Amino acid sequence: MSADLKSYLTQRVAFVDAALDRFVPAAETRPVTIHKAMRHSLFAGGKRLRPILCLAAAEACGGSLENALYAACAVECLHTYSLIHDDLPCMDDDDMRRGVPTCHKVYGEAMALLAGDALQALSFELVAQTPVTHRHSPAAMVLELARTAGSLHLVGGQVADLEGEGRKLPLEDLRYIHESKTAALLASSVKLGGMSADAQLDQVQALHDFGMATGLAFQIIDDILDVTQTTEKLGKSAGKDLASEKSTYPALMGLDASRDEAHRLTEKARQALEVFGPNGYWLHQMADYLLKRDY
Ligand code: IPE
Ligand code: IPE
Ligand code: MG
Ligand code: MG
Ligand code: MG
Repeated sequence: MSADLKSYLTQRVAFVDAALDRFVPAAETRPVTIHKAMRHSLFAGGKRLRPILCLAAAEACGGSLENALYAACAVECLHTYSLIHDDLPCMDDDDMRRGVPTCHKVYGEAMALLAGDALQALSFELVAQTPVTHRHSPAAMVLELARTAGSLHLVGGQVADLEGEGRKLPLEDLRYIHESKTAALLASSVKLGGMSADAQLDQVQALHDFGMATGLAFQIIDDILDVTQTTEKLGKSAGKDLASEKSTYPALMGLDASRDEAHRLTEKARQALEVFGPNGYWLHQMADYLLKRDY
């Protein structure tokens, strides 16, 4: 990774973390348990890719970090909720996340369920506070995030993922799962950043195409890392997909073809950025980082 990208990421993670710390009720707020549980998962050390992409998209459209910050924190809260629920015993049943024990391991299943619920509600509370722009209302941004969170996208993808366990799915079905459970939120992250910056409709469309392509590549890489990396490096249990007989890209087409597909999709994502010219610089860098990451 270049020194430039490294310092960019470090700076952006700190910026997002400081904002999340202001937006999420303090750990001492009653009822203390739920706020501790929410903060346990939120501040365990995620990569903050979705908020960073959101901020980069806002800047690519000529907007400010300040106006994009509500949407950036909203997508991280929604993502963290999805991880807490994804790890529950009734779903993927994982003990480790972001290098620490999962929310339900520390606070119990009921509290983990509720921490996820509260983070999801908070994500809508946050995105709704985005300052209105000429082209996009806060209501339009809430609508965008709500659609992505629901049964046609994230939740739908998680349902199909669970129902696919123990079966070898056709590639088309696996692609539907990955686009729904993961790519849709990456696409919304960049679209919401653009909307906060008063993006023109062709820019929003370009961000959508970018997010869907890079998002699918991102989940393919997640599948690859599950096979090739250690638990210690990932901060979450490796080898889980094989153990629970999930359909994944490496399982269906092998590691090499999966890597090729992730490369092809990243190239497609980068092409979508043409409309931004040099302002798309950090989105290009992020697409590259998402592909080459090793955890
Ligand atoms: C993990 O996402 C879940 C997937 C959608 C693959 P990340 O790899 O972005 O997880 P964190 O936020 O860094 O923990
Ligand atoms: C997670 O997919 C997708 C969502 C949380 C919506 P995975 O189940 O593959 O994610 P990890 O590998 O547990 O992070
Ligand atoms: Mg899962
Ligand atoms: Mg999982
Ligand atoms: Mg995975």
